Amino acid sequence: MTRRSAVPPPVTAVLDASSRWLPERLGEVEEQLREQSRGHGELLSKDLAATLAAGGKRLRPLLVLLSAGAQGGEEAVRAAVAIELVHMATLVHDDVLDAAPLRRGQPTIAAVSGRGRAVAAGDLLFSRAFAFLAEHGDSRSVSLLAEASAALARGELAQRQDAFDLAVSEQRYLDRCRLKTAKLFECACRMGSDTEALGAFGAEIGLAFQLLDDVLDVTGPPERTGKARGTDLLDGTVTLPLIVALADDPSIGSAGLRGLDPAGAEVLCDRIATTGALDQVRSRALAMVATAKAELDAASFDPEQRQLLDLVADGVVQRYS
Ligand code: IPE
Ligand code: IPE
Ligand code: MG
Ligand code: MG
Repeated sequence: MTRRSAVPPPVTAVLDASSRWLPERLGEVEEQLREQSRGHGELLSKDLAATLAAGGKRLRPLLVLLSAGAQGGEEAVRAAVAIELVHMATLVHDDVLDAAPLRRGQPTIAAVSGRGRAVAAGDLLFSRAFAFLAEHGDSRSVSLLAEASAALARGELAQRQDAFDLAVSEQRYLDRCRLKTAKLFECACRMGSDTEALGAFGAEIGLAFQLLDDVLDVTGPPERTGKARGTDLLDGTVTLPLIVALADDPSIGSAGLRGLDPAGAEVLCDRIATTGALDQVRSRALAMVATAKAELDAASFDPEQRQLLDLVADGVVQRYS
């Protein structure tokens, strides 16, 4: 499995288009993230450092920094560090809930070291995020991040409650995505700026991001996504590609998802793809990105800032990882 750079596409496209302040600040974020992984005893420090070093797109830190703009200072960098710590915490816990074997191209902590160690690593990441902000008196960011974390917990729980239910509605699916993913994207933008339009932009690209992620779960390939194909089907998570495919061809659901093995999941992924559901979901995500960009028209931005925000929005649906 190829190792990922700290900032793979689509973030590189944004960095290429940006003047120097953005790569410099993202570099500071990386440095401070590394510091946060040290000093927690051998096992936890090792797990945190490995999660960090495996890469990840750093999309949420990017959104914080871009929302704050070139004038954003240390406070924006700290918010960017904290949101990535929370994001990593949720990934580590999510991999326990989803019994996921791969993350960021590497075996998950849950798969290698067991659920107990993964729960502990996730807990530590959460606590570091809030402690780091509190140490600097960033109470506004603490509140925003706490609100998003609570939404995430509700979204993840709703997803567990819906597991294996092939009758789950599109509305319920979208509500889950708003809670588990869009809220954190919205939070990233709001931590960087109190411009209302940016919050709405973040929420909308967050939703598009999850739709596309659910498409990538069906398409793979793991070499590009860094995650196993069919993980959603194997843990009973009914996502929009499956909901749309079932409407087109109900026989896809006749055997249910319980008892599915990895080979069966591959077959089901192929059947979903044959219905054309993936293109439909991609189109929905693209429409959300267009809506997100239109939200930005309600406010005035520095031209470079606006161009980079548009590029991030495009990157959300033009990605493979
Ligand atoms: C994965 O997020 C979790 C979802 C919301 C789908 P990312 O795809 O941003 O994960 P990394 O940080 O790049 O690994
Ligand atoms: C998003 O859902 C997970 C979080 C918001 C933590 P997924 O379960 O689809 O995310 P991946 O595919 O494991 O990254
Ligand atoms: Mg998952
Ligand atoms: Mg997924």
